[in-house]
Amino acid sequence: MDKIVVNGPSRLSGNVSISGAKNSALPLICASLLSPGLNIIHNVPRLGDVRTILKLLAIMGAEVDLKWPTVEINTADIDNLHAPYELVKTMRAAILVLGPLVARYGRARVSLPGGCAIGARPVNLHLTALEAMGADIKIVNGYVEVKSSRLKGAVIKFPQVTVGGTENIMMAATLAEGTTVIENAAREPEIEDLAIFLNKMGARVHGAGTGVITIEGVNSLKEATHSVIPDRIETGTFMVAAAITGGDVLLENVEPLHVTDIINKMESCGVGIETSGTTIRVRGPEIIHPVDVITQPYPAFPTDMQAQFMVLGLKASGTSVITESIFENRYMHVPELMRMGADIVINGRTAMIHGGKPVSGATVMATDLRASASLLLAGLIAEGETEVLRVYHLDRGYERIVEKLNSLGANIRRVSSKFY
Ligand code: EPZ
Repeated sequence: MDKIVVNGPSRLSGNVSISGAKNSALPLICASLLSPGLNIIHNVPRLGDVRTILKLLAIMGAEVDLKWPTVEINTADIDNLHAPYELVKTMRAAILVLGPLVARYGRARVSLPGGCAIGARPVNLHLTALEAMGADIKIVNGYVEVKSSRLKGAVIKFPQVTVGGTENIMMAATLAEGTTVIENAAREPEIEDLAIFLNKMGARVHGAGTGVITIEGVNSLKEATHSVIPDRIETGTFMVAAAITGGDVLLENVEPLHVTDIINKMESCGVGIETSGTTIRVRGPEIIHPVDVITQPYPAFPTDMQAQFMVLGLKASGTSVITESIFENRYMHVPELMRMGADIVINGRTAMIHGGKPVSGATVMATDLRASASLLLAGLIAEGETEVLRVYHLDRGYERIVEKLNSLGANIRRVSSKFY
């Protein structure tokens, strides 16, 4: 396993290009299962999770041609409707093949994803919704076994917002008989991106981006070409990196509209932000005011930025308050940050960060994707050397982050070893 060694503190300056969105590329790749033919997806980030989902589609019989950042997927000859545990356990979003497979083939056998570091992350809402559309679902030996004649349109009222559940049902409904209405739908930009791709295939999806999405079923879909939206969480991560290092960074190839709440919260902390077209300029202030955020479904503050904002709180002059309302165990980065001198108190879902204290380099352990990003950010402001272990977590969701940060003036190196 590799580790990353960060020598701090650094001050970041210069330009950085943001990659395509991981959490859009994954459902888009799964959606290609709906249309036999050659689907072409541009601006695909070169990430561990993306490789995993492409490997799964290849195992199913798809022809995958990697021309990074373009991926060509031909799903004309899918002959295996089985998503094995070995792959799904490493990349939970593989559950998103379920909707397309049931819609196109009327059956599927997909491993239950199991939990992960940040929570149990059940998929009960996905399955209940598919049953409401007429699917027959059994859980056998840790696998979801689904059979269905043609799915039927239904009104699906999600009791809580679920991004993956909304995506799975949107995809399943495109080939159903009749109309499906999803109420309390997720409103993330990735949902809109998926709807645009599906409609390019000939689907009839309306209302994506709002809380009510209507899908009129059609008989078949055709191949399409699409480009992935910019990654709003990588955008937010680099915005925090610029802010905490007192830097001056121009982020390129971004969509400012997708990070409105992140921008508002950072401006309230005193960070200088200028948006123009597909760029965002971030200047770190002398004084960072305390952070006060509650993670909520989009368009509110994203849970995937919680760990990164905690590092902003370390630099803030005063006490910051962060409440994680989406996942039940998304503070795994806190004990690691405390090893670096952070003064953080957790009380249930709320973290109090007493900022302005010295942060020193230490050896720390990554536990999940966004926790690993926060440890890397902490290394940028720490005195001395920070070693971040188990950086495979980072590789799942950030494309060339070490090279990108070093191009802005950071001092980071990746070290390979079999001992950690
Ligand atoms: C997506 O996960 C993202 N992943 C996550 O990003 C993100 O944190 C999450 O949405 C919330 O925004 C991808 O898009 C690949 P949910 P997803 O279904 O779809 C509960 C990252 O760092 N729930 O919106 O799995 C669930 O336990 C990752 O890039 C059920 O109870 O999230 C959670 O508490 C991490 N039953 C809440 O809902 C269900 O059937 C939100 O989950 C489904 C979800």
